[in-house]
Amino acid sequence: MKNIDSITHLRGESVYLDDIPLQHGTLYAVAFDSPIAHGRISSLKLEAAAAMPGVVRIFTAADIPGQNQIGGIVADEELLASEQVHFCGMPVALVVATTEEHARQAVKKIELQIDPLPVITDPREAQAKGELIVPPRTFRIGDTAGAWPECAHIFEGRTDTNGQEHLYIETQGAYTLPAENGVIRIYSSTQGPTAVQRTAARVLGIPMHCIEVDVTRLGGGFGGKEDQATTWALLCALATYHLRKPVKYSLHRMEDMRMTGKRHPYSADFRIGLSDDLRIIAYEATFYQNAGAAADLSPAVMERTLFHCTNTYFIPHVTATAYSCRTHLPPNTAFRGFGGPQGMFVIEAAIAKAAEELGLHASDIQQRNLLRTGDEFPYGQKADSEAHECWQKADELFNIGKIRQDIAAFNAANPVYKKGMAVMPICFGISFTKTLMNQGRALVHVYTDGSIAVSTGAVEMGQGVNTKMLQVASTVFSVNPGRVRINSTNTYRIANTSPSAASATADLNGRATEMACQAILQRMKTVAANAMQATADNIAISDEWVHVNGQRSDWDWNRLVAETYSRRVSLSEHAHYTPASLHYDASKEKGHPFAYHVYGTSITIVTIDCLRGTYGTDAVKVVHDAGKSMNLPVDIGQCEGGIVQGIGWMTMEEVVYDKEGRLRSNALSTYKVPDIYSVPKEIDIHFLETTKDNAAVFRSKAVGEPPLMYGIGAYFALRNAIKAFNPSGHLAWDAPMTPEKVLLGLYGQPVNVSDQPDNIPA
Ligand code: MOS
Repeated sequence: MKNIDSITHLRGESVYLDDIPLQHGTLYAVAFDSPIAHGRISSLKLEAAAAMPGVVRIFTAADIPGQNQIGGIVADEELLASEQVHFCGMPVALVVATTEEHARQAVKKIELQIDPLPVITDPREAQAKGELIVPPRTFRIGDTAGAWPECAHIFEGRTDTNGQEHLYIETQGAYTLPAENGVIRIYSSTQGPTAVQRTAARVLGIPMHCIEVDVTRLGGGFGGKEDQATTWALLCALATYHLRKPVKYSLHRMEDMRMTGKRHPYSADFRIGLSDDLRIIAYEATFYQNAGAAADLSPAVMERTLFHCTNTYFIPHVTATAYSCRTHLPPNTAFRGFGGPQGMFVIEAAIAKAAEELGLHASDIQQRNLLRTGDEFPYGQKADSEAHECWQKADELFNIGKIRQDIAAFNAANPVYKKGMAVMPICFGISFTKTLMNQGRALVHVYTDGSIAVSTGAVEMGQGVNTKMLQVASTVFSVNPGRVRINSTNTYRIANTSPSAASATADLNGRATEMACQAILQRMKTVAANAMQATADNIAISDEWVHVNGQRSDWDWNRLVAETYSRRVSLSEHAHYTPASLHYDASKEKGHPFAYHVYGTSITIVTIDCLRGTYGTDAVKVVHDAGKSMNLPVDIGQCEGGIVQGIGWMTMEEVVYDKEGRLRSNALSTYKVPDIYSVPKEIDIHFLETTKDNAAVFRSKAVGEPPLMYGIGAYFALRNAIKAFNPSGHLAWDAPMTPEKVLLGLYGQPVNVSDQPDNIPA
C-alpha cells in the first residue's frame, strides 16, 4: 500500500512544526550562541539587547529553575553556558520577543566576552591529552597476538572518515504552550518525545506529568533529532515556564548547521593478517571517535562501531579498541548507522589495502570470509547468516565477473574516463545496544462506529512507520485500512518511549500494536462465540466479516463492534512489547545484543572524468535481506534514500571545521549534498525474501539504517577507477572522496601519460 502521508505531502497539507496554527500572543525565541569554541565567560552584557524593540525577556543559565543539565548518557552538557563555553554554537542566552525578526535583531546586540582556552579539534590529540568522554572499550575474540605469526600476509594502515550534516529538510524547532496548573505542552520536531519530556522536567524542576510532548511528524531526522531536538524544546519550555506564554523557535538553516552536532568523524589504525588462501586470520583496530564537546550519544555510537568492526566477515582473532575523544566541536550525535558505518569502513579499507598490495580484487577476500551461520561475532553472539545467500544472489542477478570485464574493456578504450566498481557486503545488528531501550508500546481504541485509532511510541519522520503501524492494525483486525487512523506520538498516551531510532521502531511498536489489536480481537471473538454458540477459536474475522467455523455469519465488523460495546466489553488496549533473549554483559563485552542482523550485498559502479576529477555513480545494484517486506514501496524508498545518503557521506559531503573550531561548511553553498544530478543513474534493488522467524513484525526486517552502508562501496569504486588511470598513485584511506581528492589521486604522483592507452588531450 502507498505511504499514507503521500496525499497530504503532495498537496502540501502535511503538518510539520512550522504548520501548527499559532495561539494568540505567541512569542518568538532565538538563541545567542558562542562564537568561540572554548573559553571562560568573563562578561555577558544584555542591556543593549534588552532595550531593542519587541524584546520581552532574555534568559540565561541563571534563569533555569531546575538543573542546567541536558546530558543523556553522561551529565556533561549545559542547556545554557554558565561559566565556560565548549564549542562554537553553544547556546549562551535566549532572546524572547514579539516577533522572530525582533528577536534576531536583539541577539546581535548581546555582548559576550570570553577568555579563550586551548581548542582541540582532532580526536587523536584529545586522546593523547587524556580527554576522553568515557573510558575506552575493547572487544576481543581469539588471540590476535598469538595469531600474527600464523599470517602469511600482514598489512597496516590508517583511515579517516569525516562527519556528515544530517540535513533533515525540516530544521530543528519547537513550540511550547502553557496549560493550566503549570503544565507545558511541547510540540517538538524530535525522534525522542520522552527524552524531551524527561529532560524538560529535569531542567524546569517539575514532574514529568507536567510535560506533554506531542509529535505529528518530522521532516526528516536521520538521528539528528534523537537527542539534539531537546535543546530547542527546552529553550522554548524555559521561556513558557517563566512567561506563561506560547513560545516558538524554528531554526534557520545556518543556525541549525552551526549549533548542532553531526555524524562522528573517526580516525582509526588497522592491522590485518591473512593466510595464503586469503582467510582473514587476525584483525586489530583502534578507533578515535571525535565526540565533540559533550557526550551526547557518543558512548553508544562508539559501542556500535565496535559491534560492526568486522562487518559481515568471520575473523577468529580480533582486538578492537575505541576511544571517545572530547574535542571542542558541537557534540556529535546519532546519524543513520550510529557508528556502524564508521567501523565497517575500516575493515573494508583493510581488505582493500590487502587486495591492492597482493594484486587481487577486494571481492576475492570479501567473499572468502563472509559469515556463516554459527560463526561468532567478537561480542559473543552467533550469526544466523544470510551473507552468502545475498552475495550469491547478487552475483547470479548482476554477474560480478561480467561487470568487471565490461569495465576493463571500457577502461582500455577510454583514456579520459575511467570506471571502477566495488562490492559492498553488509551486516547490521538490529536492536538498541542498550538492552533496556528495546521496548515498544501501543494504545489501540476501536470506536463504536468501527473506526480504529492507534497511538504508538513511533515517530513518523518520513520513513513510513505510520503506514506500517496502520498495516499491522488493519491486518490483525482484517478490516479496510481506511478504518484505521494513526495518531500523533504523545507522551500522555504512550509513556516512557524509546526514541525512534536504531532501525527498530517498526519492529518494537509494530509488535506492540499487533499485541494490542490481538487482545481486543480476542475479546471480540469471545463476544461473537457466546452469541453464536461457538468457541472463540472457531471465530475468525475476514474482510470485515465474522466467520464461524469458516462460514460467513451475518455479523459484519460494525455489528461485532456494536455487540462488543453493548456487552460492556473493552474495545481499547494498551500493549507493551520487548524482544526476548537480548542480553549483554559490558564487563565481559559478550552477550546477545541484537534480535537479528540484516545482510546484503551491493555492487557500485562509478565513472570518473580524469581531466576534471569529477565523477558520477553509474549504478548501485543490491540484493538486500529485508525479510518479508511489509511494504515494498516504503522499503525500496528506505533503500534508495539510504544508498544516496551513504554515497554522499563517502564522496561529496565535506564537513569542514577550522583550527579554531568554527564550521566553515556552514551553509548549503559550502556543503554539498547529493542532488538529483549526483544520485546513481540506476539503483536496482532486489529483496532476498527470507521468512525466518525473527523478532520483527510479520517476519519483516528493519530497513532504516542498513542500506546506508551500501554507500561505502562508492568510495572503493572511485579508488579503483583512480587506480585504473594512475596505478602508481598513492591515496590516503580518507573519506569523503571529493573531486579534489580524486584529482590528487589521478595526478598527485608522477604519472606517465604515454603509459595510458591514448594521450590525454591538451
Ligand atoms: Mo538513529 S542514528 O539510531 O537516531
